[in-house]
Amino acid sequence: MEYSIKTDRLDLQPLIESDFDFIRTLNARPEYFQYENERAHNDDEIKKQFDGFLEGAKNLPNKGSIQWIVINNDVRIGEVHLWNWWEKTLEWEIGWHFLIEHWGKGFATEAARAVLRYAFANFRINRIMACPNAANIRSIALCERIGMIKEGQVREVRLLNGVYYDEAIFGILKREFTPAL
Ligand SMILES: CC(C)(COP(=O)(O)OP(=O)(O)OC[C@H]1O[C@@H](n2cnc3c(N)ncnc32)[C@H](O)[C@@H]1OP(=O)(O)O)[C@@H](O)C(=O)NCCC(=O)NCCS
Repeated sequence: MEYSIKTDRLDLQPLIESDFDFIRTLNARPEYFQYENERAHNDDEIKKQFDGFLEGAKNLPNKGSIQWIVINNDVRIGEVHLWNWWEKTLEWEIGWHFLIEHWGKGFATEAARAVLRYAFANFRINRIMACPNAANIRSIALCERIGMIKEGQVREVRLLNGVYYDEAIFGILKREFTPAL
């Protein structure tokens, strides 16, 4: 199965070995994990996550995981990924990270929408969820722009530098997703 996705401005290419330097660059940016608990601290940890996605892609289309590198005009600008954590209920999780110099142009919206469209059409999925830190205003705005619905907020489940943060829960069901958007 061919997992590449094309949009007006972007190419989304499934992760390959030669993307490692880009993933390492993304990981090195402070904004990458500003709101996250789990941070890959060194090359070994980054490589472990990287290999996890390469391995997960072998189990597609109906389970596993996939990370797409997002490319604009031949330049890698970010990534969008999906995990199938809950195989029985056909529920997947979506996530994203873009280099800060490419924020504010709608690239993440365009890429994430394309991934939802592709995933609902090609994988057996009933629900896609995201759980951004409630303080991560940009990620929350992105969830809303792509039609995800806020279903709740779990209080003080993240602890970063001694400060507790809530986690927002967003979801979208296959039957409510509008492919034309
Ligand atoms: C989350 C993240 C991907 C969102 O990036 P973003 O630049 O805010 O999102 P988009 O690329 O969709 O751009 C939206 C902005 O572009 C503007 N825009 C311009 N053209 C647009 C278009 N064609 N479509 C949509 N928005 C457009 C929007 O109005 C919005 O403007 P704003 O920044 O003034 O609100 C980014 O902040 C990031 O990588 N953060 C670090 C990693 C992270 O926190 N990941 C999430 C973990 S849960």
